[in-house]
Amino acid sequence: MKILCFGSLNIDYTYEVDHFVRKGETLSSRSLSVFPGGKGNNQAIALSKAGARTLMAGAIGEDGRFLLKLQEEAGVDASLVSVLSGEKTGHAIIQRDPEGSNCILLHGGANRQITGEMVAAAMEGMEEGDYVLLQNEINANEMILQAAEKRGLKVALNPSPMNEEIRKLPLEKVSLFLVNEVEAAQILGEELPEDFDGLQVCLRLQEKYPGADIILTLGSRGSVCVLDGVTVRQPVYPVKAVDTTGAGDTFTGFVLASLLRGERPEAAMDLASRAASIAVSR
Ligand code: RIB
Repeated sequence: MKILCFGSLNIDYTYEVDHFVRKGETLSSRSLSVFPGGKGNNQAIALSKAGARTLMAGAIGEDGRFLLKLQEEAGVDASLVSVLSGEKTGHAIIQRDPEGSNCILLHGGANRQITGEMVAAAMEGMEEGDYVLLQNEINANEMILQAAEKRGLKVALNPSPMNEEIRKLPLEKVSLFLVNEVEAAQILGEELPEDFDGLQVCLRLQEKYPGADIILTLGSRGSVCVLDGVTVRQPVYPVKAVDTTGAGDTFTGFVLASLLRGERPEAAMDLASRAASIAVSR
């Protein structure tokens, strides 16, 4: 079984700041680092490093070719990523504060130029029962969901970053949701009470999308899931946070890779939690 991650590839410009820049303020950063990023790219690399047979589809500009090299080095088959001339690779401007928290400004660039031909080409080698993993940083999710259904593929969706586009998608075609509490609330179309119970939220999502499995991440409060009827409450492995960017992507890649090779939900959630803690600590 293989997994196709059809998603974004970004160049991340990460600025270390004393605090996030405020309206009207000009702020000097302490440093600038340039990293490979994009939720699709991060999740594909995590999947592959966690042992899943992973393909990546998406689009970059000429300036993003180094991302393909990094994917290949991580064992990802990046042959379905189109390099568009005259288009810039998507990028993210990330401010990171002394606590390791971030805020992110995105420019979609080539990520927003996915065509029907690219979707058809990516689907060609996929077989019934294979997985597709989607996030919300490309323009073609509806097309991909339809094409995946026709081919008998299972779809895992991480609806991040959350916006109105997600609610317009045919979400009943999703087999597995990987959501945080904000995304869960917006999919349910309601505010969660302050003392909400994560497991109850998973069950409510399942009522709305019967048959779907749910993984809910709760930041420092851990994660919960309902997978194949099994419920798990997974605490975090506490570490000193250096940079939280991409930790959710690491969690996604590791939990899926583990589930795909048939490991129990408890083992998959534990592995993903360990991997995310390591990601946060670096
Ligand atoms: O999830 C983290 C990612 O979100 C970053 O790498 C950035 O590119 C944005 O897509």
